[in-house]
Amino acid sequence: MKKSIMLLVLLGLLFSCKRNAPDQINIIPRPYKYWASEGHIKITEGTRVIYEDPNPELRLMAEYLASVISNSSSFVVDVEPLSKIKAMGTDILLVTNLNDSIYGSEGYLIQHNNRKFFSIQGNQAIGVFHGIQSFLQLFDPAIFKAGTKKDVWEIPVVYIQDQPRFSYRGMHLDVSRHFFPVAFIKKYIDLLAFYKYNYFHWHLTDDQGWRIGIKQYPRLTEIGSTRKETIVGHQGNEPEVFDGKAYGGFYTREEIKEVVGYAASKYITIVPEIEMPGHALAALSAYPELGCTGGPYETATRWGVFDDVFCTKDEVFVFLENVLTEVADLFPGPYIHIGGDEVPKTRWKVCKACQLRMKQEGLHSEEELQSYFVQRIEKIVAARGKRIIGWDEILEGGLAPNATVMSWRGTEGGIAAARMGHDVIMTPGSHCYFDHYQFDRTTEPLAIGGLTKLSKVYAFEPVPDALNNAESKHILGAQANVWTEYLQQPDDISYMILPRMAAMAEVNWTPSDKRNWENFYDRLPVHFALYDAWQLKHCKAVYAPMIRSKSDGKGNKVVKIETEIPGGIIYYTTDQSAPTLQSAVFADSLVLPEASGLKVAIYRNGQKIE
Ligand code: ACM
Ligand code: ZN
Repeated sequence: MKKSIMLLVLLGLLFSCKRNAPDQINIIPRPYKYWASEGHIKITEGTRVIYEDPNPELRLMAEYLASVISNSSSFVVDVEPLSKIKAMGTDILLVTNLNDSIYGSEGYLIQHNNRKFFSIQGNQAIGVFHGIQSFLQLFDPAIFKAGTKKDVWEIPVVYIQDQPRFSYRGMHLDVSRHFFPVAFIKKYIDLLAFYKYNYFHWHLTDDQGWRIGIKQYPRLTEIGSTRKETIVGHQGNEPEVFDGKAYGGFYTREEIKEVVGYAASKYITIVPEIEMPGHALAALSAYPELGCTGGPYETATRWGVFDDVFCTKDEVFVFLENVLTEVADLFPGPYIHIGGDEVPKTRWKVCKACQLRMKQEGLHSEEELQSYFVQRIEKIVAARGKRIIGWDEILEGGLAPNATVMSWRGTEGGIAAARMGHDVIMTPGSHCYFDHYQFDRTTEPLAIGGLTKLSKVYAFEPVPDALNNAESKHILGAQANVWTEYLQQPDDISYMILPRMAAMAEVNWTPSDKRNWENFYDRLPVHFALYDAWQLKHCKAVYAPMIRSKSDGKGNKVVKIETEIPGGIIYYTTDQSAPTLQSAVFADSLVLPEASGLKVAIYRNGQKIE
């Protein structure tokens, strides 16, 4: 960096000390430390994005940032290498000269330099990348709206010092139950990057479809990527109804490489998941010899857990070794997720090959056989320079030596694994399953079940109290899971993840003592405006009162009303008039005649929530 500009950056630090309440800062996840001085800096004609050269990563980021601004401005933002700059104007400078260990590899510092130019500094390029995500959140959300052509953008005069709490900040997507094209996967990755996630767990195979092209086993996609039809609505309904339509889709190797490259450009690592030994019907439909009974098998047309799983005979390990070798070659990240969840032992118990395996290996139960299976797979994966992640069932029968555990059936599996010195990613169904309802199921789109409101996601604490300090270090972070049994279209997904992924982003990034529901709630409107600008369907249930009523069997209904709004007061009427601040305030519950009408409104600080 040029000395004169370095000096300006240092001076900026000195001048940035007049602090105000940072109420114009709506960044999610909430930064570690930040403040704003009075006034704004104007980004307008003549503003440039200047990057430290020669640094190709920073050049790409500079081009991206400049294009976002230019696309919605009446002026064009030029990109210039720092070595060519003689004097700074109202510019945006991207540099990796932070040289400060407190920010770690992923942290960044944004400051205005004597109200002259903004600098976004990291120790490494990824830090600058995170800084850009924050910086873009300082703009009016119209920056992302097609057709915007502004002459001037007013940016608050900020100082932001930031770094993440956890090293694993994940979102998962199931593309087996429903398939989503590459264009959507890229949008999903964009959202992850915007909210500073760094892992995308891509659930590529399951009973209902095998979605990744494998050279050596073409039938996996020729046959296993298609199902003949799909159950309609919730299963268990009588009679069950199927849609009668063939459904399928898969990613070619070229498409996988394209997505991997795209994710890398957004500093996101993909964790591919190849499910085994259960959730394997799609693979078995293609290669029935890999099951205990020899089939025939059919790619599943309904949801759930199926008895037919991979056998434990040698040819299955040969097959999986070949598949995992190709997967390891396609995905540069450190992990391969091997599933391991929901494995009925029904077939293994009566399979000659499996029983012989148990005898030869001295295994006393089918749980130990599952553990044998996972340990053997771990060796295959380790030989390719990677580590396995498995769902918490891999604890049963003995944990593979270097496995990372994804704790989904609560946090107990994660606690046990951390105590054994294993790394853990927390993803309990109670807080992290975004296929759950987020509001009253009678008015929401069909979902699998559950109720996980925004405030509940926000309240999730990945490190259980039960762990001591040393054990807690094994909690790498948390992940939200998006299972797609009832999510067929991109819109369905965006509705389920927005804004819940914003809450989870803050769980993973922001120090726990800076996490505050009311503060988050106040930052949400800007993010809803962003979703509108991106034309992404999203859920505004946080603003709605949730009303539940139950008959008492005596002609009355017992009514409960809940609001997530911090400081929200629930007013109600039973005479059809609109509730006002003079109406009755709801306390615990209400008993009303069955036939009576009820109108509800929430007020916060005297303002009606619309
Ligand atoms: C899971 O939800 N079966 C991991
Ligand atoms: Zn078998």
